[in-house]
Amino acid sequence: MDTINIGLFGLGTVGSGFYKVINMAHNAHARIAGICVRNLNKQRDITLEPGILTNNPDDILCNPEINLIVEVIDDAEQAFSIVKRALEKGIPVVSGNKAMIATHLPQLIELQRKYNTALLYDASSCGSIPVIRNLEEYYDNDLLLEVKGILNGSSNYILSQVFDHGQNYRHALCKAQELGFAETDPSFDIKGFDSLFKLVIITVHALGVYVEPQRVFTFGIDSIHDTDIEYAREKNVKIKLVAQVFKTCANKFTMFVMPELVRPERYIYSVDDEYNGVVIRGRCYDRQFMFGKGAGALPTASSILSDVMARRHNYKYEYKKMAFSPRPEYTTDVDLKIYCSFSSTRIDELLPFREITEKYISQNRNYITGYISLQQLIKNRQLLDAPDVFIANIETPRF
Ligand code: HSE
Repeated sequence: MDTINIGLFGLGTVGSGFYKVINMAHNAHARIAGICVRNLNKQRDITLEPGILTNNPDDILCNPEINLIVEVIDDAEQAFSIVKRALEKGIPVVSGNKAMIATHLPQLIELQRKYNTALLYDASSCGSIPVIRNLEEYYDNDLLLEVKGILNGSSNYILSQVFDHGQNYRHALCKAQELGFAETDPSFDIKGFDSLFKLVIITVHALGVYVEPQRVFTFGIDSIHDTDIEYAREKNVKIKLVAQVFKTCANKFTMFVMPELVRPERYIYSVDDEYNGVVIRGRCYDRQFMFGKGAGALPTASSILSDVMARRHNYKYEYKKMAFSPRPEYTTDVDLKIYCSFSSTRIDELLPFREITEKYISQNRNYITGYISLQQLIKNRQLLDAPDVFIANIETPRF
């Protein structure tokens, strides 16, 4: 069996995790032949083979011995330039970089076709849960109605700490950083962008449609208030950051990222800490549920290893659903039921609800629940960005 000689870009949380995992996987017949890092002198908690590190990408990309690139660096644009160069040389790539993939996916698909090579990225979405490959292979039909879940480990960890352990939000965020769950800039996690990037990637493999991230409504958990936690406790629900894509009728779908008031009978209610959970709903099988660690060095690295191993069998995504005809069309013309809390911003007067179902106004904090279109949420984005405003989706029956 030929050895896979890997060129690794990045030796941060996931890169170091991958170095450990590959050294545990004795039957993998894969080895790391070179590692490109930004800072050669950084202190690291792993013992490396002498001479394996470089800070020159060419030492990896032009090394004829290397037959696979693993890219796990932080910077999305730098990552794109490395991945592009590798694919242009016909070298397959495994990446966990959701920002880079979600932003450049059409071009990355084209590069794979043009240079007849592969880019695998199961590790980019939901850490250790093999959601992309399952959507691509098993759910290769048009009976899929919805993919919904908790896709960000850090925000879920923070919410669990606050909800179940009475921890302070800031303290929980610091712990998520210490434990290696959060992004270098944790605002990506708590403002919902990390979930958004994953949702964009998932939608390509679920429905065969690429939607630019900037077109998708995204609201995070950073403006959550103690009274929101109290409200959720009183109503016997949990607040979770949920990403979802679902069909609104036979030929249209919508998608968004928003906190949700989750009822105890829902699968994702019990997804706590850094775990992720994905519910897949289809016309003939109702709901299926995938659960697993969504963040952290080793869980993510194990997904990278799985993609590396898939290359041994020349596996590549075929993007079969992109050839479906007709493909469903993205719409924001959909009514949502939301909970909205605020203090100084008079949301009740400014946000055009179609129907208000509950309203509570007091001296300190106010809330309202009601129906509003997603289009209006997008239109009033600036208003919702006020630091005193928090919103959460309330699930309603679906098509
Ligand atoms: N920051 C990400 C998370 C890492 O918390 O889910 C895994 O993608």
